[in-house]
Amino acid sequence: MSDLATRLSIRSLHPVFVAEITGIDLTVPVAREDFQTIWDAFNEYQILVFRDQPFDDDSQIAFSRNFGALETMEAHAANNYRPGHIAVMTNLDAKGNLLPLTDPSLIHRLRNESWHSDSSFKPVAALASLLSGRIVPPVGGNTEFASGRAAYAALPDERKTALEGLNVVHRVTAPNETADSRAYSEEQKQRLTVTHPLIRTNPLNGRKNLYIGSHAHEIVGMSREEGRRILEELTEFCTQPQFVYSHPWREHDLVIWDNRCTLHRATTFDKTRYRRKLHRTTVAGSAPDTAMARMPEVAT
Ligand SMILES: [Fe+2]
Repeated sequence: MSDLATRLSIRSLHPVFVAEITGIDLTVPVAREDFQTIWDAFNEYQILVFRDQPFDDDSQIAFSRNFGALETMEAHAANNYRPGHIAVMTNLDAKGNLLPLTDPSLIHRLRNESWHSDSSFKPVAALASLLSGRIVPPVGGNTEFASGRAAYAALPDERKTALEGLNVVHRVTAPNETADSRAYSEEQKQRLTVTHPLIRTNPLNGRKNLYIGSHAHEIVGMSREEGRRILEELTEFCTQPQFVYSHPWREHDLVIWDNRCTLHRATTFDKTRYRRKLHRTTVAGSAPDTAMARMPEVAT
């Protein structure tokens, strides 16, 4: 192990998942030994927190590519229909002024306040998201995470058996979301309706998890109501306090989460007083089940 790798320190932040890693600057190229440590911790802890990482978009994209190829966002109101590798989560306009609460992009982003897994509505769902705190409010605006792995492990064996093999329909539009469903074209709605297994397995360590969230609408082979009822009950189970970590943002934090096995949601803050701007990159998974048993090659 190199001197660089031995500087890294991993500290658990929650009884069942989440670790903070210190001793590394991610804004400059990262040694492969160090990335191996980060990759292993990502698969084990599911959520990684790094403090004091003053990224710009280029350095965030460069570091994110260690995890694999990046997604290009769908065109929608929150990116002004100009999608790229960076998704900006903010209540500010291009000049840095507070947006009115009625602005379509703010209304669109309210969907982030429901528990979800990024891009679960895509045929190849996201592997990881990396969120960089550029401007953070003094109070509120935490991001909350729930471990679908810890929740699955806590289910009784007979329930695990009953859920095994079920498949779930995920859609880009959330249920009962008539205003937001207008943000997507019919072509997008069709293309972004997909089926994923309810139970997924991490190919590196064999750990299983629930794969659910607000884009999960129905269970294949069940009535809409029955599927919906089970998905809501599982979401409630998965988001109990013992499976949840709430991240209070500091400027220059980077938080990385494993979309294969965790849910997350934004929490509200006083959008009429405080500024908040977080930049996200999203790493695409790999077909057929976003499996990645080995550390990815550096994407170009
Ligand atoms: Fe998200």
